[in-house]
Amino acid sequence: MEDLILEAKHICKYFGSLTANDDVSLRVRRGTVHSVIGENGAGKSTLMNIISGIYKPDRGEIYVKGNPVVFRNPNDATKCGIGMVHQEFMLFPELTVLENLMMGFETKKYGGFLDKKKAAKDITEIAEKYGFSIPLEKRVAELPVSLLQQVEIVKVLYKGAEIIILDEPTSVLTPQGIEGLFRAIRYLTRQGKTVILITHKLKEVMEISDDITVLKNGVVTGNLRPEETDEHGLANLMVGRQVLFNTKKPKKQIGEAILTVEHLTAPGSDGTKKVKDVSFCVRKGEILGIAGVAGSGQGELIEAVFGLRTPSGGAITYKGEDITASTPRQKREKRIGYVPQDRISTGCNVNGSLIENCIMGYHVAHKFKIPWLVDREEAAAFTGDVVANYQVKVQDIHNKIGTLSGGNIQKTIVGREFAQNNDLLIIEDPTRGIDVGAIEFIWQKIIDAAAQGVSVLLVSHELGEVMELSDRILVMYNGGIAADLENTPELDEKTIGLYMLGGKA
Ligand SMILES: Nc1ncnc2c1ncn2[C@@H]1O[C@H](COP(=O)(O)OP(=O)(O)OP(=O)(O)O)[C@@H](O)[C@H]1O
Ligand SMILES: [Mg+2]
Repeated sequence: MEDLILEAKHICKYFGSLTANDDVSLRVRRGTVHSVIGENGAGKSTLMNIISGIYKPDRGEIYVKGNPVVFRNPNDATKCGIGMVHQEFMLFPELTVLENLMMGFETKKYGGFLDKKKAAKDITEIAEKYGFSIPLEKRVAELPVSLLQQVEIVKVLYKGAEIIILDEPTSVLTPQGIEGLFRAIRYLTRQGKTVILITHKLKEVMEISDDITVLKNGVVTGNLRPEETDEHGLANLMVGRQVLFNTKKPKKQIGEAILTVEHLTAPGSDGTKKVKDVSFCVRKGEILGIAGVAGSGQGELIEAVFGLRTPSGGAITYKGEDITASTPRQKREKRIGYVPQDRISTGCNVNGSLIENCIMGYHVAHKFKIPWLVDREEAAAFTGDVVANYQVKVQDIHNKIGTLSGGNIQKTIVGREFAQNNDLLIIEDPTRGIDVGAIEFIWQKIIDAAAQGVSVLLVSHELGEVMELSDRILVMYNGGIAADLENTPELDEKTIGLYMLGGKA
């Protein structure tokens, strides 16, 4: 007999006329890593939200250790040992790690006071047991994503989870971060925990899974084990066609400098200097990629250039004009577009409609400018174009963008920035959370934009992405530029990797 810790049978979930899960069944064996994969909007997060008690299924049953369960809310699922780390982190930035971990699970002393000491002790024990090391007294806002993720995992462990659902945990991790996470996952399963993993990275799926379930349009299209398939086989099952990652590179001319950054310094959120005397330029039609280990200052650099972070020194010139002190809005008016790394907190307003989100940041600029009013028809037509051109899966553009799947929100934001006739695009992790089929497509959009004369400043945690797209690559290390490399066919990952770790040019 198979030892099934969790079984979902014939799950159906409808949102209005949309079928997000259609007769989905999932059999998860105890102590395994079970990956669930599928295109953006295939219904993965919906299924996990059902299993963790956030959504109620319209049909179907869930069994935990062979017993039928009905979850009225996430607490019910927690009591059954199910914990979920969401695709978009759910931590409160202004609270400390400890406060976040205690939230909703407050250890109380007599009289109802919070017993922080006991909680801290319990949490430290759990973290150490599973090999995590997290700073309990630091504010969440000060931590890098790799640590935030560990905080989220420790949080579900603290709540006693036996089944840990990780919804796209690797989308912003560097290779080192992923290695660390995988070590932790393997350790967890050795201790008898079960992990359900959602990811778009098929290499990872092949590497870590015991079982794989493929979803397509809300339907299960495959249940298999890694030894029965390969990455191409999985991609085929997911998108129903071959995915080759072949981009077409049209011949192009790289022109004069559009953006010049000179001796830029900028502080990080904790006040220490994170960008140190950085100088470079981006030319017309050029894609300049920035590589670096997470936390090397690339995020702060991009924010300083776009105006979300005030530089402490240096100058930024755009088309010959000093824009060092201009605000993001002023920069948008000058046709500078921006795709932030975090689509939820910076990239959009989840409670706004798709239309509102598509004109957001541009409502006073370019197109939609009839005095005092937003031209609704124009805005709706523009949104319709973005949705069509970027293959955004949405039923009605009046719906809240927050009801879209993660990858589809990402496509909308990328589409918005690319469709605004911008001359310079500042983009960070543009394909974060996007499925294999759509990555190919977004890459081609970036290449085509540059071929038409748009300048692109690209930061990505995926070295492969930087190498595929860039004409030139800057490697950041410890806040400075460690290397400035022409992206020729001879340039290899190893060379870049050395600079990323502090090797000298
Ligand atoms: N609360 C909601 N209201 C309306 N529609 C929703 C809601 N939640 C999800 N959907 C829709 O259900 C479908 C499945 O979404 P889901 O988030 O499960 O996809 P996913 O497989 O996780 O995709 P991704 O890889 O992009 O994260 C999508 O079309 C989405 O728009
Ligand atoms: Mg999802």
